[in-house]
Amino acid sequence: MASKKYDLVIKDGRVIDPALGFGKEAHVFVKNGRIVKIQKDSAAVARDLKSLDNDQLIDAAGKIVVPGLIDIHVHLREPGGEAKETIETGCRAAAAGGFTSVCCMPNTTPRIDNQETVKFVQDRAASADARVYVVGAITKNIEGKELSEIGDLVKIGAVAVTDDGNYVQNPEIMRRALEYARMFDIPVMQHAEDQFLCAGGVMNESFQSSRLGIKGAPAVAEEIAVTRDIALCQVTGGRLHIQHVTTRGAVEAIRKAKLAGINVTAEVTPHHLVLTDEEIGKEFNTNLRVNPPLRTAADRDAVIEGLIDGTIDCIASDHAPHAEQDKDCEFDMAPPGMIGLETTVGLIKTYLIDKGYLSWADAVRKMTSNPARILGLPGGNLAMDSPADITIIDPEKKWTVRADRFQSRSKNSAFIGYKLSGRVFKTIMGGRIVFG
Ligand code: DOR
Repeated sequence: MASKKYDLVIKDGRVIDPALGFGKEAHVFVKNGRIVKIQKDSAAVARDLKSLDNDQLIDAAGKIVVPGLIDIHVHLREPGGEAKETIETGCRAAAAGGFTSVCCMPNTTPRIDNQETVKFVQDRAASADARVYVVGAITKNIEGKELSEIGDLVKIGAVAVTDDGNYVQNPEIMRRALEYARMFDIPVMQHAEDQFLCAGGVMNESFQSSRLGIKGAPAVAEEIAVTRDIALCQVTGGRLHIQHVTTRGAVEAIRKAKLAGINVTAEVTPHHLVLTDEEIGKEFNTNLRVNPPLRTAADRDAVIEGLIDGTIDCIASDHAPHAEQDKDCEFDMAPPGMIGLETTVGLIKTYLIDKGYLSWADAVRKMTSNPARILGLPGGNLAMDSPADITIIDPEKKWTVRADRFQSRSKNSAFIGYKLSGRVFKTIMGGRIVFG
């Protein structure tokens, strides 16, 4: 029997690929797991469509078809935290959220600070519903004392290093990390919060923290950390990526550094774009406890402005699963973090696109080609012959966030009950439908 001309065709969607400058209605043709044609309105295309079986066609009329989304900041918790998430469940959550690629953080147990643990994660991820890229630890056991073998980590496939969860407090160590990482052409991703200034703080230090009598972590802790690392980035000529930016001062420092040609990039989470510290006093919902903390409305607005003007390159969820029993406690006892993979698209559509801050093309760029560029990852566009990693979004779909609908093993979202507009319709990885 002759082999089929196409395996799958996504038909009549609005295809948006900011990297290729594409934004119009078209059909996307997939063969052998790769994108082989994006076209519409020719006699040949009409003939092709007629020759296909129904189960090879996805009707994307009224939907948006974009490159598979990429999230460069995700905690998959495996090894060691399987009660909260596994690579399998985390990747299922990624697929449900439209992400075909995720970068996993090394603060697992044991830490991902050696080749064996990188290999373990890669092996477990081989059959998962998303591509997993490993970010190794900057320092052994993420303790900030001794550099991990960064060259070994890169050799086996780590795409960057970070001690996420911890700031590399010692500037000498951070300087060496930037120098080593430069030799391997990878960025150092930094959780930028000075640990001395934050000590014991569990929310933003502000009027709200005083009012609630909760110990605060000040914005200046982030600003000092960012400013110091930009200076180190400049002297080393390395590449610095600031994770989850939250303050006006940090945005300003990054903006200035970029203007000066310093090699710094930055990300922001949906929760820092949507929520402020004013939420905490309403119910003391422990899912609002995150590091860095939710800031003031002025900070939130500055971060949105930074996202719009390109100071902040990408949106990353910082998906941080925690077990229900661990979050079922007083606010200041709760571990920091909330899940985010499955709510990112809806939150960005509802709070940034619908409010006129970002166009779809801007938002998609910040979740595809920009994160791919920062970490040198494949994908992020719909180029011919590239793996068919494709996300189809129903832009006007109204839905309510429900804990029982999460694919993630953990349910610690501060957005449960939120009414959102815009939902992932289908996610395709390498030509395989992994969600929808
Ligand atoms: O809120 C957070 N949770 N921030 C981090 O940096 C770490 C993360 C976690 O691992 O739970």
